[in-house]
Amino acid sequence: MPVVTIVCGSTSEKIHCSQGSLLSDVVLEQGHTIKMPCAGKGICKKCRVKVQGLEQSITATEQGALLPQEIQEGIRLACCATVTEDCTVWLAQEKAAQICGEGELPDFEKSPIFQNYGIAIDIGTTTLAARLYNKDMLLGQSTQVNPQRVFGADVISRIEASLNGKAPQLASTIRTAINQLIEDVCGQANISPQQVDGMVIMGNTAMLYLLCQYPVDSIAKAPFRSEHLFDCWLQGKDLDLICPHCRVYLPPCMGAFVGADTTAAILGSSLCESQDTQLLVDIGTNGEMALWQQDKLLCCSTAAGPAFEGVGLWMGMEAKEGAIDHVEVKQGAVVSHALGGIEAVGLCGSGAVDAVACGLQVGIIEESSYMEDVFWLSEKVGINQKDVRMIQLAKGAIFAGMESLLEDAKVDFSAVKAVKAAGGFGNYLNLQNAAAIGLLPKELLPVSVCVGNAALTGASMLLLNEHFIKKMQALTSSAKCVDLAANPFFQDAFVEAMLFE
Ligand code: FES
Repeated sequence: MPVVTIVCGSTSEKIHCSQGSLLSDVVLEQGHTIKMPCAGKGICKKCRVKVQGLEQSITATEQGALLPQEIQEGIRLACCATVTEDCTVWLAQEKAAQICGEGELPDFEKSPIFQNYGIAIDIGTTTLAARLYNKDMLLGQSTQVNPQRVFGADVISRIEASLNGKAPQLASTIRTAINQLIEDVCGQANISPQQVDGMVIMGNTAMLYLLCQYPVDSIAKAPFRSEHLFDCWLQGKDLDLICPHCRVYLPPCMGAFVGADTTAAILGSSLCESQDTQLLVDIGTNGEMALWQQDKLLCCSTAAGPAFEGVGLWMGMEAKEGAIDHVEVKQGAVVSHALGGIEAVGLCGSGAVDAVACGLQVGIIEESSYMEDVFWLSEKVGINQKDVRMIQLAKGAIFAGMESLLEDAKVDFSAVKAVKAAGGFGNYLNLQNAAAIGLLPKELLPVSVCVGNAALTGASMLLLNEHFIKKMQALTSSAKCVDLAANPFFQDAFVEAMLFE
């Protein structure tokens, strides 16, 4: 049996595995993370790792995908390399993204669903976030990348993986990650996970299906009717959590593609607290939108891809130390800011929006999205043509989704009195630049505000006041989901919204 030595930061471990095991399987089974957006198809090249000891077994796919110099340095694609003999693999250490936001909640009376401690958890397609509360205050918060991304970067790839027999692995991967978040926030407050007696876990419909290991057939094909809409109570042990007796509430989903994250974001953004027409846009790997008009709630969601979370871009990364989060043009020169005040090593979502806006401003990016060369934002970090196309598709999908909601309600942008932009950007999205690239409507810029991670705020509110659960149930049961997949208006609007004008 060959032995694989996994080195991660200052730690290393030795694993015995069967001859011919895939290197990615060996590494993932030990709870490590490798970026695998193409789910091991050998296309994305993101699963590069440095390996010593498997020089003889390089595959044709790797020879085609890697530069001769990379091969010489021992770089391999973890999804292709098989373990034929003893070897050592070096992994990059990943830090959590800063996606929690500030943890601020609106004022309301507390009537928590827990006695001692409660945790609100957001299962994002790309990022997970958790907040720990007692009855009085926020005690800790934590984030980490969603390790399910090794099964694919988007919801569709993970549904496909589940259909292909990977449902148990998908469930155990996310349950393990949730347990790590629980341990982390409890560690911050110096309490034991067993003291946590209430929890709200929300995510889009597919994420909750995968968490509960429900068969995904009904949400995988037309007419995309979700058999489970959740709004249910479980116990921690049902989800293999380290607080087995904790009561766990999964908020209601509204359809196959309008999930509990939208429900929570509607609550967290106070969208329905006004007489005015208001629009909520939750910008993530899935773009979720809701329109509140004359006491009616219309919702939709569209696949935007992970570009706005900094994932999938040439030099994309989560919003952590070294990520360019802000770019501007000052006296004709491009100036960028990296988180942590250190040298830039990549680009996160808010930086990507700024970068495209600045590129358009200085003429490096044309309105058609064409660019002749890489647009450098710092000495080592830039965006390329493929990045701009990804952002173009994502912003087009979100803008067209908003237009489709308005069209369904028979109103136009002039009727909208407030736009609430939510998402992993927290409060760092530059709204001016978002409007400049056509992610948000320019005419609504004066009434647009960032509301941070509204879905996590909403989940925290459900945790801290049980009456919000009834309120949410009433709203979602009367809401209308607008299906964009079969909507010709959306298709036309999408094509038009892709342009940078
Ligand atoms: S090349 Fe995409 S996961 Fe390996």
